[in-house]
Amino acid sequence: MNRRVLAALGSAVLALSMAACSGDGAGSGGNDSDQPGDLTIGVSMPTQTSERWIADGNSVKEKLEAKGYQVDLQYAGDDIPTQSQQVDQMITRGADVLIIAAIDGTALSGQLQAAADADIPVIAYDRLIRDSPNVDFYVSFDNYKVGVAQATALLVGLGVQTKDGAKGEAKGPFNIELFAGSLDDNNAHFFFDGAMDTLKPFIDDGTLKVTSGQTSIEQVAILRWQQEAAQKRMEDLLTSSYNSGTKVDGVLSPYDGLSRGIITALQNAGYKGADFPVVTGQDAEIASVKLIDDGVQSSTIFKDTRLLAEQAVIAAEAFLTDKTPEANDTETYNNGVKVVPSYLLPVQTVYKDDIKPVLIDSGYFTAEEVAAGQAG
Ligand code: GAL
Repeated sequence: MNRRVLAALGSAVLALSMAACSGDGAGSGGNDSDQPGDLTIGVSMPTQTSERWIADGNSVKEKLEAKGYQVDLQYAGDDIPTQSQQVDQMITRGADVLIIAAIDGTALSGQLQAAADADIPVIAYDRLIRDSPNVDFYVSFDNYKVGVAQATALLVGLGVQTKDGAKGEAKGPFNIELFAGSLDDNNAHFFFDGAMDTLKPFIDDGTLKVTSGQTSIEQVAILRWQQEAAQKRMEDLLTSSYNSGTKVDGVLSPYDGLSRGIITALQNAGYKGADFPVVTGQDAEIASVKLIDDGVQSSTIFKDTRLLAEQAVIAAEAFLTDKTPEANDTETYNNGVKVVPSYLLPVQTVYKDDIKPVLIDSGYFTAEEVAAGQAG
């Protein structure tokens, strides 16, 4: 049966037809007779304002096309209705599998129901989609460990701990501030939990002091992970909590885009050189890798989007050939309705010394790109 013809008739007809005559089990895309070229994978990415999602989208597309599949790649400009509409369209255009990195992890239940009704498997890409029984698989990194790694990098940057986990020379007390990601992104909670579990003993014993007193995720979260909002919050913190000569020593930042906003606020307030606070990050975005190379940002957490894309493609291909993708975690990611089988990849902390061995030697960036702070 040619699904593309059915797709033209609309998703309702498609759903009925599939139920009536395809014989595919739930969660199986494609038909036995389909060739890769007959199959389309809808890839829905959140935004192009962050370079990582562009790299993710391109990697997934290239890898699927190399295997002969058709790819319908869409970016939603960080706008929830746009993403819902794009996913709706992918379904009506007859996608055989959906790979989705959600903007708001709780906002796609309707689309996922339509996908399930049309027998289209859904793979949540890096961000878990919540509150829906229709998420078939999740590919991501170990997000709790990302938070642990970020907090550890803050401790190492301050000299409280050494890179090999031993106690460092520095005793503090150090003034720090905390940032978290977007509350509607499931990952933001994992990052913050991992970080706070790691920092808490040092806050409790007085080594670290959160000068503003803002320590709950609700107080420190940045909606949509926006750089400008992070800059504004850092400026407000400097005005409210650091106006009497107290200096910021470190900032826990969960994402390079936020780190750049925080760094701008600190630079505008006159912080520079050896006294520049320790600022963490995530994603190894090229502009931030340059800041690390220049000794401004302290660290980032590298998540190899090439490997993530590869896992998404492996999972998509399993569904397309009526197989179940192999999970390496079947406990951690409860989306509010069910535990979603997951494939989690490891992460790596990158300090200045790691840029060459980890990012350049692996071909993720060239030395020229790092020097320019721009990819491509
Ligand atoms: C998260 C993701 C992070 C970062 C952030 C902002 O969901 O896990 O790596 O990219 O979004 O885009």
